[in-house]
Amino acid sequence: MNVLTATNLTKSFGTGESRATVVQNIHLSVRAGETVLISGPSGSGKTTLLTMLGCMARPDGGEIQIQNVNVNSLSQAGLTSFRLRHIGFIFQAFRLIPSLTAIENVQLTMNLAGLHSGSRKACMLLLEELGIAAKADKKSEVLSGGEKQRVAIARAIALNPGLILADEPTGSLDGASGKAATAALVKTAKEKGAGLIIVSHDPRIELFADRTLHMEDGRITEESRRTPTSA
Ligand SMILES: Nc1ncnc2c1ncn2[C@@H]1O[C@H](COP(=O)(O)OP(=O)(O)O)[C@@H](O)[C@H]1O
Ligand SMILES: [Mg+2]
Repeated sequence: MNVLTATNLTKSFGTGESRATVVQNIHLSVRAGETVLISGPSGSGKTTLLTMLGCMARPDGGEIQIQNVNVNSLSQAGLTSFRLRHIGFIFQAFRLIPSLTAIENVQLTMNLAGLHSGSRKACMLLLEELGIAAKADKKSEVLSGGEKQRVAIARAIALNPGLILADEPTGSLDGASGKAATAALVKTAKEKGAGLIIVSHDPRIELFADRTLHMEDGRITEESRRTPTSA
């Protein structure tokens, strides 16, 4: 089953002579439980693409279906609640609330969705899955980068979204903690049956991905699938 089907996506910025097409006719689908890496040089349109897939910006043209909902047809308010319930987003800079503890950062998302599962017990289970239960009551500002990213992963998956999007999730981490956080992210996404897209130019992430798409100048120029023997 596809959790995401994007057809003919296009996005431009600027006006007149300075108008530039940043995403050009992109077709992309992701299956439940699949991990897709999008690589490509800086400025090739990766973040713009991910922002549209995450329903934080609308494309100029094309269509996005997430879990069989055509998101183009949703109102702005509809998009906001759809995003909260169906899409988990992980940012390079984590974007946790520094003065809240690790577990409070996760509970906040659940509470926003009006869920009783914002209970401490449910959130603690998530932190355990990600190997940071021992840090649950530490303010997030005192955690290491790798620990912060695991909290951000717990927050992104707290509502069991069908689609998880991560933009340069290892960009602020050293090699070892970046690799461990990526492994934790890929494993949890697979266990929950979510589709996962990771944008990164870290070549080591290719080892974790079922499929790699390469982007240049707003287009997907190459696609490779990991063979079982290279795993
Ligand atoms: N809001 C915006 N307004 C104008 N130009 C933008 C905007 N967002 C991105 N761009 C431009 O689009 C191009 C692609 O940017 P981006 O999607 O961030 O690439 P990447 O994530 O691959 O580095 C860049 O040239 C960038 O300057
Ligand atoms: Mg980017």
